[in-house]
Amino acid sequence: MTSRVTAFVDGASVDGAAGTVRTTNPARLDDVVAEVALSTSDQLVEAFRAAKAAQPAWAATPAPVRGKVIAAVGRLVEDNLEALAQLVTREVGKPIAEARGEVQEIVDTCDFFLGEGRRLYGQTVPSEMRDKQLFTFRVPVGVAGIITAGNFPVAVPSWYLVPALLCGNAVVWKPAEYSAALGDALTRLFVAGGVPTGVLNTVHADGPTTYEGLSRALEQGLVNKVGFTGSSEVGVRIGELCGRHLQNPCLELGGKNPLVVMPDADLDLAAEGALFSGFGTAGQRCTSLGVAIVHEDVHDEFLRRLLERLAAAKVGDPTSEEVLYGPMLSERFLQGWEKWLGEIQPHHTAHGKQGRITSSNPRDGFVGDPDAGVFAHPVVVSGVRPDDALYRNETFGPLVSVMRFSTFDEAVELANGHGYGLSSAIYTRDAQAAFRFRERVSAGMLSVNNSTSGAEAHLPFGGNGKSGNGSRQSGVWVLDQFTRWQSMNWDYAGKLQKAQMDTEQPAGGSTVADPRFRLQQTP
Ligand code: UN1
Repeated sequence: MTSRVTAFVDGASVDGAAGTVRTTNPARLDDVVAEVALSTSDQLVEAFRAAKAAQPAWAATPAPVRGKVIAAVGRLVEDNLEALAQLVTREVGKPIAEARGEVQEIVDTCDFFLGEGRRLYGQTVPSEMRDKQLFTFRVPVGVAGIITAGNFPVAVPSWYLVPALLCGNAVVWKPAEYSAALGDALTRLFVAGGVPTGVLNTVHADGPTTYEGLSRALEQGLVNKVGFTGSSEVGVRIGELCGRHLQNPCLELGGKNPLVVMPDADLDLAAEGALFSGFGTAGQRCTSLGVAIVHEDVHDEFLRRLLERLAAAKVGDPTSEEVLYGPMLSERFLQGWEKWLGEIQPHHTAHGKQGRITSSNPRDGFVGDPDAGVFAHPVVVSGVRPDDALYRNETFGPLVSVMRFSTFDEAVELANGHGYGLSSAIYTRDAQAAFRFRERVSAGMLSVNNSTSGAEAHLPFGGNGKSGNGSRQSGVWVLDQFTRWQSMNWDYAGKLQKAQMDTEQPAGGSTVADPRFRLQQTP
């Protein structure tokens, strides 16, 4: 069944006026999931206007009451978990077990933030003067414009929507065009949970239209915070645009996540971690393993164990519980990824078949019909060097580069040298190596004896360098994205007290410190 997806603005469906696109099941290209009516940049600006109008009343709603709405959304998502997970599998091809995990991540996020409605703590702070009290308050930023990718079509959006709404902001959300039915489904769950009219607006638009609509909405003072998850390239453009309006967006960008295998590592565990994070979701996570950096003493054996597991792994139909990964997100993602195969050089060794899986380029043990969808062979490329394009870029697909090192300093250099800094991992039994790696790796997140993927929903998530601008999502840390600190001082002395001038000395002791005072040495 094909559904029709329109924008949802100010509590009503609004037919887009910029033509339609289709979303298709990437595992079965003849299955059209949705006809999506795309909006124009004018319609996007209108959505921001609706959000701005609705925001003050939502901000005035007591935070614990907003928390109850988030609680209701969480319960609804839980009760619709299977249906939403099935749609994730159908629209973006994520294997069903992972899709259920993705929906669970929304539930976890709601469970964390429903309680935050009863906290949203500010502080009381002592004053340097008598009869005066200082306070801090968290104030919602206003209207948030959220633009998200389709590899995590509902979980990552919830990392923005849930805290933004809980904090008293209104939202305009632009999901990926290729996961529009999921954008619509999640929007409807929020609305069914009690988010008031105009507080959450969802608009489907292509990239250039979104950029134009966002620029105009920023110019008109309708946007106070932008959140963006996607490529580093687009992140730079969003950052520039926001900078012109003195805004600091929340940017969650690409990764080239390193996994360091020390000579003392449990090699089976390391190979298991590399398999899951390199090839799970067909390598299309921002936290996917990009480069395994392996000590020379264990390099060949690690590679052997990884390749052995990869050969045995099932690829194919994402509705099957047993596949490691299903299709690419769409044809466009297959093409983007295939171009990196052209960067395999004579000094590399490429292990395994390459390119699209088809009946004429088959994979052993493939589950289902490869010609029906967009499937890619997994590739491990060893012998990669620091100047190679395969090392310097995120490849976003089932391709893992392998490099070797001899000293710990070299391993750290390779873990950081590409300039990304999202996630990282080290496999070792040596506590000193683990903590030294923590100190020196530039990534915002690291795992010890666990893979680069699989962040939990209440720890800070985010990166540095080409992976982001230092913003953090999740847990209490994301509150700083969706609120601003306001400080207040309240003077009840009944006279003007001047800070830094009318301060007093302690009563009863010496009035001035004697810096030359020393204890007498006894002979
Ligand atoms: C992303 O790919 O944008 O840690 C997010 C993980 C997931 C989130 C990935 N929980 O791999």
